[in-house]
Amino acid sequence: MRTQVGIIGAGPAGLLLSHLLHLRGISSVVLERRSREYVERRVRAGVLEQGTVDTLVAAGVGERLLREGLPHRGIELRYGGAGHRIAFERLVPGRAITVYGQQEVVKDLIAARLAADGDVRFEVDDVAVHDIGTDRPYVTFGGGERLDCDVIAGCDGFHGVTRPSIPDGVLTAYEREYPFAWLGVLARVQPSAEELIYARTERGFALHSMRSPEVSRFYLQVPAGTDLADWPDERVWAELRTRLETVPGFSLATGEIFERGVTPMRSFVAEPMQYGRLYLAGDAAHIVPPTGAKGLNLAVADVRVLTGALARFYADGSAELLDGYSAACLKRVWRAQHFSWWMTTLLHTFDSDDAYGRRLQLSHLDYVTSSEAAAATLAENYVGLPYEDGDPAGP
Ligand code: APR
Ligand code: PHB
Repeated sequence: MRTQVGIIGAGPAGLLLSHLLHLRGISSVVLERRSREYVERRVRAGVLEQGTVDTLVAAGVGERLLREGLPHRGIELRYGGAGHRIAFERLVPGRAITVYGQQEVVKDLIAARLAADGDVRFEVDDVAVHDIGTDRPYVTFGGGERLDCDVIAGCDGFHGVTRPSIPDGVLTAYEREYPFAWLGVLARVQPSAEELIYARTERGFALHSMRSPEVSRFYLQVPAGTDLADWPDERVWAELRTRLETVPGFSLATGEIFERGVTPMRSFVAEPMQYGRLYLAGDAAHIVPPTGAKGLNLAVADVRVLTGALARFYADGSAELLDGYSAACLKRVWRAQHFSWWMTTLLHTFDSDDAYGRRLQLSHLDYVTSSEAAAATLAENYVGLPYEDGDPAGP
């Protein structure tokens, strides 16, 4: 079997890449280990930057997103008994975020690929990449099948096979682990506020988010290694109440919890994001803690750059943009790394912090919520900085 671009992984990165390449007349095959049902149900974050929305809409996969997504023009930071709104409409005019579950993006992309007769294969075992240092790389999978391609895109997430296939000594990993995780739940209850609430308390961080007018999404900071069995519904609600009902007049509406999970918190970057004819995109190359809501958005930004580089390669044979792929991505990647670390540090309780550290954190929060300049820094990073190519409609 032969294609132009072999794509490993059908998460947002792999699926969007396949779709954008199709729009440029470039063929691809997507190989995914899990079932279609599994990837469509996998619950992840749900905040789309303005540029992510623009990219999906320009690519023709934004129809349901525009209909069902919830545009948000601000977020609240809640601490010390008060709420403070970060008003995007004033701080970053014309830019906003849209709340739309990542698995909904994945569903829309799969539907678009299949409608265009795209080759997306699910439940594919034993994927391995070969000869990536040459210009004839290939992929083997499923007990003897072989896919020859010009280029391989490693879109197989943090635990995938492509990054570890790069020879030792090529990559440098930059990494930070946090001593806590997020316990996330989805509940059938209308959101208790119109906007997201990022709450810092002495007992730890909590986040009020949502998916629709009927479904709320919540997260609690918990110690790393937390067992879900220790968190029956009553305990989740009691802890959410304690951490969120800290301002006058706010009461948390509760409902049936129908999905729960624990997400470890990690920062990670592998550099460079390429080797030979293998290009890494999304979580395969970098991870951020979810506090800045950047994971999906970074994956989209990588794939835009890779699409532009591949389009050039196939148009005139020039590998110039492909050679510069990693460098072109890493600037935004590191901005998001810093922002995600910064938001995490601003809002979480660190056991290692002494009284001095806690005072610094509160001073920082006071600054962000009282200075227009500091608030604008948060706002412009949160809604997403403009792409380097400056074109919302795609590379
Ligand atoms: N063979 C085939 N597919 C694989 C393999 C493998 N060996 N290993 C992993 N995969 C698949 C996973 O099952 C998953 O569907 O690769 C896909 C990777 O998708 P994601 O983890 O969603 O990563 P990405 O597409 O880069 O999207 C980044 O996902 O983790 C979130 O917060 C992150 O929102 C961000 C987004
Ligand atoms: C979510 O709704 O899942 C969500 C929102 C904001 C974040 C992370 C996750 O920072």
